[in-house]
Amino acid sequence: MANIKTVGVVGAGLMGSGIAQVVAQAGYSVVVREVEQRFLDKGLKAVEGQLQRAVEKGRMTVEEKAKLLGRIRWTLNLEDLKGIDLIIEAIVEDLALKQELYRALDGLCPPATIFVSNTSSISIIAMASVTGRADRFAGLHFFNPVPVMKLVEVIRSIRTSEETYRTLFDFAKSLGKEPVTTKDNCGFIVNRLLLPYLLDAIRALEAGVGTVEDIDKAMTLGCNHPMGPFTLADFVGLDTTYFIANVMFEEYRELRYAPPPLLRKMVVAGYHGRKSGRGFYDYSGPTPTVTDLGL
Ligand code: 3HC
Repeated sequence: MANIKTVGVVGAGLMGSGIAQVVAQAGYSVVVREVEQRFLDKGLKAVEGQLQRAVEKGRMTVEEKAKLLGRIRWTLNLEDLKGIDLIIEAIVEDLALKQELYRALDGLCPPATIFVSNTSSISIIAMASVTGRADRFAGLHFFNPVPVMKLVEVIRSIRTSEETYRTLFDFAKSLGKEPVTTKDNCGFIVNRLLLPYLLDAIRALEAGVGTVEDIDKAMTLGCNHPMGPFTLADFVGLDTTYFIANVMFEEYRELRYAPPPLLRKMVVAGYHGRKSGRGFYDYSGPTPTVTDLGL
């Protein structure tokens, strides 16, 4: 089985920076690559903020924080990923951009380097097929917020080798995560089940079954979910939810994945959820209030 010591993370956004943090926390050396300095700065700030919180809560010493940060190198240069054992890609969900990146990495990295994508819904084999290492290519799907969520989906494409799969499964465990194995089917396990649920909540709202607050309250108190569907959709991002729904609808042609008109309207209006300040809730005040959607 491949021995992973060094890990590259491509993309320092919400997922990439969270992944870099948990990987460094597990003792690996990490190189994070971004395309612009401002994205690197944002990723570093996010990791520093999380670690500072841990220090303040007494879960980490100042020395441990410094040591951990010292294990992460931030770079704009793709060449810095040359000698790395495992590369985790967490860039935007755009197949063409991902393929372009993988082509470049394939030319740069030695044959032993394993490539994984943190994609939520894009086909692993569609990315692997542009490289000469489809057997050393798989998916590792982390969940937001990465430092908190225990699950990692280990996605095997039809060409992922047994050795690569086992290496990645053990790697996920070494991060303190709970891996599950899933096939390279659009949406994997979680989004296959989560997306119809989130979309159904929006349909229920459109049908006047209940208000945003009551539907959220029903699911948090009735099913003990940490967040109701609208709070969760805002948390995931309505643009992301819409994107995944479209990819899944295109793949399966099943109505349960079809994005409801209200979701599309909200995305077009720029209501992208918590990150944009507004989604089903308005986050501009001290506590979220329900957005007037004219329903
Ligand atoms: N980053 C890192 N840590 C965070 C965090 C963040 N964004 N948000 C909260 N935390 C930590 C806090 O520091 C706190 O840790 P501590 O108790 O050790 O200090 C802990 O999480 C609990 O936080 P809070 O008390 O502030 O808040 P909650 O108890 O409400 O928990 C939550 C917040 C963990 C986000 C919880 O509401 C939750 O689990 N929500 C559901 C999240 C979920 O379902 N995520 C999956 C989305 S689907 C996905 O990612 C797949 C994609 O493909 C769409």
